[in-house]
Amino acid sequence: MKPGVTHRNHGGPPVLKMENIRKTYDMGDTQVIALKQAYLCLEAGDFAALKGPSGSGKSTLLNICGLLDSANDGELEFLGQPVAGLNNRQLTLLRRENMGFVFQSYHLLPVLSASENIEYPLLLKGEDVKTRQNRVAELIEQVGLSRFAHHRPDHLSGGQRQRVAIARALVNQPRLVIADEPTANLDTETATQMIELMHALGKAQGTTFLIATHDERMAARCDRVLNMRDGEIHETTEIAVHEMA
Ligand SMILES: Nc1ncnc2c1ncn2[C@@H]1O[C@H](COP(=O)(O)OP(=O)(O)O)[C@@H](O)[C@H]1O
Ligand SMILES: [Mg+2]
Repeated sequence: MKPGVTHRNHGGPPVLKMENIRKTYDMGDTQVIALKQAYLCLEAGDFAALKGPSGSGKSTLLNICGLLDSANDGELEFLGQPVAGLNNRQLTLLRRENMGFVFQSYHLLPVLSASENIEYPLLLKGEDVKTRQNRVAELIEQVGLSRFAHHRPDHLSGGQRQRVAIARALVNQPRLVIADEPTANLDTETATQMIELMHALGKAQGTTFLIATHDERMAARCDRVLNMRDGEIHETTEIAVHEMA
């Protein structure tokens, strides 16, 4: 066993594994290389920041991890299953059953209340009313919004909206939550609370988190830091060194 490489492996396949992922965008006559050669392995319970300046390829990488976009080249496995060759319906099911998403601008449905927004993925999944009620009550309590269950998003603060989005992302007990700049619209104190909340819920449920951020302070609160530069990932290795000591 190689120390520092396998220490996060709890047995079973990694939650997500990408090798040599390349992604280009065609812009008329020119080609933008968004991901040059990206390698990433996320294990169960990882709480990882994807840090990098604007334009470094974070959103592109998250879209590929989230099965929302495909790479030009390279290999991607989710829960030990190669993703290449799956059709759109299979990808949608895989996403719906096993993934949650959090975005910078919350992406809540404006006509639904906080609790209805949280319930929505369970409706898509076809869960019965009792299961839905229990799970929504549990989540809304965990994110500290029980008193705001019936409020619509426009009657909630930015931090409260993001709490609803975090609850919605976790309601299906996904294996992986992908968050694209989830704290970029929030003040530092609220942003810190959001990271701490995701960390606590992720640890409690054993959910893996991959969080894109350009904010050093938010990245520093994560257990792993993956630095994105010019379409490549360079992992900060202090954590592995620390755990080997
Ligand atoms: N849909 C697109 N069409 C063309 N170029 C894109 C598109 N999306 C992203 N890019 C380019 O790919 C690079 C990486 O962008 P992105 O993944 O959005 O980075 P980040 O999220 O780190 O800001 C940038 O040069 C950006 O301009
Ligand atoms: Mg981005």
